[in-house]
Amino acid sequence: MTTDTTTTTISAPTTAITHIGQLVTNDPSLGEGPLGLIQDAAVVIDGDRIAWVGESSKAPATDNAVDAGGRAGIPGFVDSHSHLVFAGDRTAEFNARMSGRPYSAGGIRTTVAATRAATDEALHTNVARYLAEGLRQGTTTQETKSGYGLTVEDEARALRIAAAHTDEVTFLGAHIVSPDYADDPAGYVDLVTGPMLDACAPHARWIDVFCEKGAFDGDQARAVLTAGQAKGLIPRVHANQLGPGPGVQLAVELGAASADHCTHLSYADIDALAQSETVATLLPGAEFSTRAKWPDARPLLDAGATVALSTDCNPGSSFTSSMPFCIALAVRDMGMTPDEAVWSATAGGARALRRTDVGRIAPGARADLALLDAPSHVHLAYRPGVPLVSAVWHKGVLV
Ligand code: NIG
Ligand code: FE
Repeated sequence: MTTDTTTTTISAPTTAITHIGQLVTNDPSLGEGPLGLIQDAAVVIDGDRIAWVGESSKAPATDNAVDAGGRAGIPGFVDSHSHLVFAGDRTAEFNARMSGRPYSAGGIRTTVAATRAATDEALHTNVARYLAEGLRQGTTTQETKSGYGLTVEDEARALRIAAAHTDEVTFLGAHIVSPDYADDPAGYVDLVTGPMLDACAPHARWIDVFCEKGAFDGDQARAVLTAGQAKGLIPRVHANQLGPGPGVQLAVELGAASADHCTHLSYADIDALAQSETVATLLPGAEFSTRAKWPDARPLLDAGATVALSTDCNPGSSFTSSMPFCIALAVRDMGMTPDEAVWSATAGGARALRRTDVGRIAPGARADLALLDAPSHVHLAYRPGVPLVSAVWHKGVLV
């Protein structure tokens, strides 16, 4: 008996987007410089994948064509850090901060109470709302975390809800010590590393911990992350946000995908990040909304560390879903060039999520891209606050 090995490839209708004035591919083999820039570019989409990238004049024939009319093109943003499963908001706390009160992790308790009281339906609606906001602003890959439940049931529920909307789901039971364990932080760490992890691990890809004064110290954070690793989760760490601390070194030591915030770094922290595969994820929305000292991207970049930019979208410290806003802040206040900031918001985020299929525009990559009402990506920083994202393709579909 012979086996028929012929396969039929069913190809979806192909679409060419032509006359993209300047295209950021993030693939230096396809174009100029580290961003792999192509002038007057075309991208061919086949189903949910990119099939061809090059100059418009050389584009192959396709079923459909869209003329970008000289607009700039970029890969869809990869927002590798957010906290979207929450209810309520913290307007009063923000107002108080803007009249001089400092930010404290204690505000998280307000959102925990509101989230526990919310129905599943309300939480789904919220996640969908902020994902849609991000998508309109060019975000096509979104990580999101639990961390406003802090009981076994509420954390597992948050992760199930998150997983219904995105593949990039992070278990953050160790956000703060649950108010139910206020007098027994060690007992809470036992809960997080035991029954809570058992219930949550099946719904998550990543494990995170807020390693900071007022949240979890280095030993507690290590216990949480190594327990997660034993269950197959990959660590990422909220590190060195409010002050210096052990978070970055711990992230590097455990091979975490990313150390996030990185606002208060020592030279040793910068060195450790530069020598490692751990991405330094900077979250300028948090410094904006807490009126805190800006993280400085310059020494990280100059030392050779990989830097990602993300929104940290959450109701307390950074209530923005806008990657263009974060790019503008990073350029104005964190020492990044527009090219570096756009790379960090796309390819950098992909590195922080250990993804090679997003954050770039190249054959085989997922067809996620945005057109800007501007002649180049630099305008994302040059024209802050202006809604420049004018068309977004997500998984090959114009949204
Ligand atoms: O990343 N730092 C800890 N978690 C969030 C803040 C959460 C909140 O204030 O609700 C952050 O900034
Ligand atoms: Fe965060």
